[in-house]
Amino acid sequence: MSLHVLQHPFAAHIMTHLRDKSTKPATFRTLAYQVGLLLAIEATRNLATKEKVIETPLEPHTGQVLARPLVVVPILRAGLGMMQPFLDLFPDVSVGYVGLERDHETAVARSYYCKLPPLAGTRVLVVDPMLATGGSAAQAITVVKGAGAREVSFVCIVSSPEGVETVHAEHPDVPIFTAAHDRELNNSKYILPGLGDFGDRLYGT
Ligand code: PRP
Ligand code: URA
Repeated sequence: MSLHVLQHPFAAHIMTHLRDKSTKPATFRTLAYQVGLLLAIEATRNLATKEKVIETPLEPHTGQVLARPLVVVPILRAGLGMMQPFLDLFPDVSVGYVGLERDHETAVARSYYCKLPPLAGTRVLVVDPMLATGGSAAQAITVVKGAGAREVSFVCIVSSPEGVETVHAEHPDVPIFTAAHDRELNNSKYILPGLGDFGDRLYGT
């Protein structure tokens, strides 16, 4: 089981303000970007590199560059709030989209959109801020694997024990990176203490 919980004082600071119900959408988006940046760095810590010979102004030098293409796959719609940090850190990253929406009664996710670049030989990061029952994450990971992805990580902002268990049961090879691992789900399958509905808070809906 591979669960990585972000350990950084600034991450803890951001999480407190993200959880605060008085935080308005504009600030919420900024905070999501900031914690997304910290997560993007953490989740890519072990990317493979290869040697590249360049010329400094003074002499030849053998440096390291990323060995394989990187693909980020946000789960629509809340995952879009975590996409920009990856684009800013990795300008050559490709982007795929998986659209999933939880049913309000059953909390089971329904697929409504999918557009993916070629995934064979790439490193894929599926991103979605909330890992609650784990149904959406497990489904999205199944989709990217079905499209050829062999090395997949899942990156979220808040996880629950149930969500982590579901993803690890269905995809034991997929490490999970989170900024906060919370206590439990309530009867409506929302994370406690959590931060509410991420998509609604991000977009003011
Ligand atoms: C939220 C969230 C995840 C999902 C997590 O999305 O962004 O995708 O719920 O829940 P799960 O782990 O129980 O599947 P939602 O379905 O509310 O759609 P939205 O992103 O469009 O708001
Ligand atoms: N989706 C959210 O946005 N929040 C939760 O707590 C659970 C699912």
